[in-house]
Amino acid sequence: MGDNNWVALEEEDGKTYLVELVDKTHKIKGIGVINPHEMLNHLQLGDSIQLGHKSFVRLPIGLPELSKSMLRRAQTISAKDAGMIIAKMGIGSGYSVLEAGLGSGGLSLHIANVIGENGIHLTVEPREEHSNVGLENLRRASECLSEFPKHHHINGNIEDVVDQIKSIKSDFDSIILDLPQHKSAIGSVAGLLKTGGRLCCYCPVTSQVESSWEACEENGLTVEWAGELIERPWGRASRGGIRPVNGPFGHTAFLLVATKK
Ligand SMILES: C[S@@+](CC[C@H](N)C(=O)[O-])C[C@H]1O[C@@H](n2cnc3c(N)ncnc32)[C@H](O)[C@@H]1O
Repeated sequence: MGDNNWVALEEEDGKTYLVELVDKTHKIKGIGVINPHEMLNHLQLGDSIQLGHKSFVRLPIGLPELSKSMLRRAQTISAKDAGMIIAKMGIGSGYSVLEAGLGSGGLSLHIANVIGENGIHLTVEPREEHSNVGLENLRRASECLSEFPKHHHINGNIEDVVDQIKSIKSDFDSIILDLPQHKSAIGSVAGLLKTGGRLCCYCPVTSQVESSWEACEENGLTVEWAGELIERPWGRASRGGIRPVNGPFGHTAFLLVATKK
């Protein structure tokens, strides 16, 4: 582990790229055709470099750089909701976390970052075109973060792979479900939650919150919190001062957190 084989480059507009220091000339999207080892290996943290007509600064690689530069396929959970999920569920060092679906691994990066090397992270995903992206993002994180959990991945729908999950770990501190059908997923894995453990559902639409709430209660869980977090970014105004920026006031999802007593 450690980021010796990778370089994070930030462009003036904040766009961030994670580049593997391979000794081979090839095209890197957003940067151009370069041999990363020859061009970037000598750069110290904070150094600037001009590549083509763009200027970049080398930064240390932490969670924000991994998230900003991640490969994307399925819709990802952003820092706003990931932060709330981690705080409401109390996820911390050494936790065991079951997560479905993996998707692009947006939330997984946040989980891996907080549970550390004593944590256990089990991800489930049925669509290979999604898990290829999610697992590549986790590979990068495992090579760049100073600590990385023990990670297992299972291909399939979570409802169909409960025995495989149990063969790896039979109980979890936290279960997070970001998938279309929460009801059947909750029914399949509620029994894997430790006493005092928490389950979270990420629900883009209200009908998912309602069916998740009912499914949690039917499976002996108590809903602790349900709601939405609204983010309002600020920026510099053109005539001076700072203020909320103009732009869409978007919706991501509702969250529901339930606990096993
Ligand atoms: C929105 S994506 C997850 C994004 C992920 N949380 C992130 O932050 O990148 C939802 C994923 O759930 C997967 N999925 C759908 N049904 C599932 C099931 N029954 N079990 C596990 N995963 C499922 C989909 O294939 C999709 O990749």
